Amino acid sequence: MIKVIKVKDYEEASDKAFEVMKPFLVPGKVLGLATGSTPLGLYARMVKDHEENGTSYKDICSFNLDEYAGLPIEHPESYYSFMHRNLFDKIDIREENAHVPSGLGEDLEGQAKKYDAMIDACPVDIQLLGIGSDGHIAFNEPGTPFDSGTHVTDLAESTIKDNCRFFDNDISKVPTQAVTQGIGTIMKAKNILLIATGANKAQAVKDMIEGPVDVACPASILQKHENVTVIVDEAAASLLK
Ligand code: PGA
Repeated sequence: MIKVIKVKDYEEASDKAFEVMKPFLVPGKVLGLATGSTPLGLYARMVKDHEENGTSYKDICSFNLDEYAGLPIEHPESYYSFMHRNLFDKIDIREENAHVPSGLGEDLEGQAKKYDAMIDACPVDIQLLGIGSDGHIAFNEPGTPFDSGTHVTDLAESTIKDNCRFFDNDISKVPTQAVTQGIGTIMKAKNILLIATGANKAQAVKDMIEGPVDVACPASILQKHENVTVIVDEAAASLLK
């Protein structure tokens, strides 16, 4: 069941997302976190809440969705760096509790299996998601099996183009592979919160909510999850009936 919340713009979407997230910011909870432009407003609100209200992350654990393959973690665009810069370094989460999949090493598939085992041992209470303009969730591009676990994947051409803005607008600098939680991994989360803003997400949002459940739109599988909240701004909702 997808519960759709329509808001005006990005700022309102971030306010609403924080409202949904807030009850989970208590000891013992496991958060599923995401990167990209979409969650930045939510992370800023989480940091403010930590600073002003003393909300503590000492007993909260997190699992990120994905990481580029082959990019050193100290690279500013690695998702490890992104998470530290925008959230982890500004709250009191413990380094050992803040998990980001590793895109480095000899045996990425073996590491991916271990990542899934860690998530199985600490099930995610709320998974935050963005959506790609091609309907991807995490780096599960169109065609990814719905039962996939964490795995290594090639990025779709459209994703490489979308992300080139983070790599000096130079397509040749964008990694072409990533390690990503699978759709099966994501679907195990007890609650899912997806935020979509901007006109370039409108078709993907329509396909996710009103289209058939089909691997052509990976996010459409969320129709089968019990507890999904989708926050959309006017531009992203513009094609919805
Ligand atoms: P974005 O990416 O938040 O940067 O738009 C979302 C995604 O690709 O999942």
